[in-house]
Amino acid sequence: MECFAVSGFSPAWLALREPADKAARNPAVLTACADFFAARSELSICDLGAGTGSSLRAFADRLPDRQHWTLVDHDADNLAAALQVLAAWADEASHQSTDLTLRRGRKHITVQTRVHDFAREPAAWPDGTELVTASALFDLASAAWIEKCVSALTDKQLPLLATLTFDGKIHSEPPHPLDEAVVTAFCLHQTTDKGFGPAAGPQAASCLERALEKAGYATTIGESPWVLTPSELLHATATGIADAVTELGSVDAVKLAAWRDQQRTRLVIGHRDVFAVKA
Ligand SMILES: C[S@@+](CC[C@H](N)C(=O)[O-])C[C@H]1O[C@@H](n2cnc3c(N)ncnc32)[C@H](O)[C@@H]1O
Repeated sequence: MECFAVSGFSPAWLALREPADKAARNPAVLTACADFFAARSELSICDLGAGTGSSLRAFADRLPDRQHWTLVDHDADNLAAALQVLAAWADEASHQSTDLTLRRGRKHITVQTRVHDFAREPAAWPDGTELVTASALFDLASAAWIEKCVSALTDKQLPLLATLTFDGKIHSEPPHPLDEAVVTAFCLHQTTDKGFGPAAGPQAASCLERALEKAGYATTIGESPWVLTPSELLHATATGIADAVTELGSVDAVKLAAWRDQQRTRLVIGHRDVFAVKA
């Protein structure tokens, strides 16, 4: 889920969440994707809303040995950070202007970045793309955009691997009397416009799965919750939820501060992953 930003979708926030994202992604969904491309030696992938490239780092080991990635995001700073983070992550890396060639273990990977706002037109992938990926993106989008994106994928018969789409479930331990009010208000806040029209927010995972199935895709779906124990990420997440609820003004501020600052042992944020191929 995307909204607990320390500051927008800054590289610092994306770095803080990356280990939790990696631990959360559903292994059966990743395996379905890996199995689908297992016979291939080379693959072209486009990652929508790539941020600093965490999808590439998460999926590269499971995909064919030669990979060509296009990272698309409207935030040029995130894409510049992606090239740096990926170069540091690789065993070997060489830059050619805004492109990167890298090797990590047996994987030989080329990376191109594209600064582009795909809110109006989801089909931001270059010709020749064979797999579209997106992590923590679809809950920002409207139901109409999700349907348009699925329709554009369908036109090209493209497979989709979409991970970490918020599913509206939040569970905090120990329970607190304000939990229900906070979660209800937070889910409402998730439906505000993030640049794509009114966001699907907590309905995004279901909305995406329905659109894919309606378009004739075969889907492998699995849960991918963040399970947070006391940590900087848990603190930032609780603060982000409280800040979002504050914006709506529907929960008493003093009580909300007490909810935010309680000693939690666990905070679970529900997401779902899907791998979809045209049947
Ligand atoms: C929650 S972050 C996820 C980043 C990355 N996929 C990850 O999992 O770490 C959402 C990303 O989508 C990008 N984004 C949001 N709206 C966009 C739009 N209309 N066009 C292009 N990128 C967008 C943001 O800049 C941000 O990098």
